[in-house]
Amino acid sequence: MKEDERRLFLMTCIGGAAVVAAGAVAYPVISYLAPRKGKDDSGVVTIPEKELPSDGAKFFQFHGKAAVVVRKMDGSLSALSAVCTHLGCIVRWEAKQGEFLCPCHGGRFATDGKVLGGPPPRPLEQLKVTVANGVITIG
Ligand code: FES
Repeated sequence: MKEDERRLFLMTCIGGAAVVAAGAVAYPVISYLAPRKGKDDSGVVTIPEKELPSDGAKFFQFHGKAAVVVRKMDGSLSALSAVCTHLGCIVRWEAKQGEFLCPCHGGRFATDGKVLGGPPPRPLEQLKVTVANGVITIG
């Protein structure tokens, strides 16, 4: 009888450990495969205007992809996809030049997304941007 109780206890422990191990493997896989949720259902991103440097750019995720908002020379804002239209590298902001540079093949883009040089075939995708009450809204 004692042997049966010990066997039952051992099998319960092994079964419990197997369930925990299966969950530990399944959770990251399911999380990776599941569609990403934005901050809200509309896919709109909001950024406090004070977080945008006066001569700089603020990068963020928009619909799961890199995007950037930048203040143009005239003071207005431009929101762009930060994905280079050549082969998909993420552009970086070059404050001294006031333009975006793709580190992969040297593509250059203006603050409105226009191609300034290098191999990119198209401008960076423009995103809708508005500002109200100190909040930048993209999307
Ligand atoms: S990927 Fe950007 S220039 Fe080639």
